[in-house]
Amino acid sequence: MANKNLNAAKAAKKDEFYTQLEDINNELRHYKEHFRGKTVLCNCDDPRVSNFFTYFAYNFEFLGLKRLITTCYKNQDMDLFSQNECERAIYLIYDGDKNGNNIPDPEEIGIHPLKGDGDFRSRECIELLKQADIVVTNPPFSLFREYVAQLIEYNKKFLIIGHQRALQYKEIVPYIMDNKIWLGYGFKGGAAHFISKYDDVATASNHKDGMIRVSGVVWFTNLETKKRQEQLILYKTYNADYYQTYDNYDAINVDKTDEIPMDYDGVMGVPITFMDKYNPNQFEILGVSGKYGFGLESTKVYDDFREVRPDGTETGSSGKKTNGNPMLKGRPDKGNYYRRGSEEVFSLYTRLFIKHKK
Ligand SMILES: C[S@@+](CC[C@H](N)C(=O)[O-])C[C@H]1O[C@@H](n2cnc3c(N)ncnc32)[C@H](O)[C@@H]1O
Repeated sequence: MANKNLNAAKAAKKDEFYTQLEDINNELRHYKEHFRGKTVLCNCDDPRVSNFFTYFAYNFEFLGLKRLITTCYKNQDMDLFSQNECERAIYLIYDGDKNGNNIPDPEEIGIHPLKGDGDFRSRECIELLKQADIVVTNPPFSLFREYVAQLIEYNKKFLIIGHQRALQYKEIVPYIMDNKIWLGYGFKGGAAHFISKYDDVATASNHKDGMIRVSGVVWFTNLETKKRQEQLILYKTYNADYYQTYDNYDAINVDKTDEIPMDYDGVMGVPITFMDKYNPNQFEILGVSGKYGFGLESTKVYDDFREVRPDGTETGSSGKKTNGNPMLKGRPDKGNYYRRGSEEVFSLYTRLFIKHKK
């Protein structure tokens, strides 16, 4: 039981941080045309602490919104980790300014109790979701897969914050391949400071009081952007010495997105940060490396290889753990590699498999 509580608390702690108004503003300024006449739902947002609520309430007329709905989650571990001080879960409806002062006054905001705890998966929250055109929030990272699945099931437009590692989740990859989800404009330097009362592990130069720095955070969306129409300018041509073929995938390795050869017709493995430059008219995404073998299957297993340190000693692990990773022949510049007799291979980070669109 203690362990269960601890795990729940850990998950809650990871989820309890709040987005800065400036970051919301920076992303949302690219999407103004999508919001006219629309009902927006922020469904992981205590209006007392959520800047998503503040942003949409104060920009209601500017964006020409029809309605703003915000639901507040009453965290079960409230005493331990939540900043939410909700006595109970509520939802809130704002239909815009009525008294002409262009400010959301308390009497213009309808506050209604929820029967349950405000979980986005609950029936009453799903009823609110059905009324929404666009969902915008920073959902709990620990429930990201379920969160996205629900948005797609209900055919909603969305703009949400998540971690770029979600690009590798087996539940998310098929949406990426089907062009049902892509990346928005993102955070400066690929990292964001969130408002949090928890320990910040950021280095001193990045430290901001009362904030936690999270690297690799991105905006996920299915709203059309100008960025997604931009062609990636390519300058490299294919050369078999430079672009090695993987040992276990029928594709060539490209270490940097801007080094994608312009004239290669086959499959190319690129870092997942490629998603930030992805234009569906220029490229097709065929899959991602990994144990699940999306789109492109790994053609080889390494069970009878041994892991070797740079100094030549064995770690004691077999090559089983590298199955599914993109592998190149030879030794890496640094780090461990795998050996079977005279055969040596090493693994790379996850790769997206892409092709030029004809
Ligand atoms: C990363 S925080 C972001 C909060 C807010 N959207 C923001 O950006 O400032 C995620 C929030 O989701 C809430 N939450 C956790 N589980 C939830 C659930 N099942 N349904 C709805 N909200 C949930 C957490 O209490 C937390 O406040």
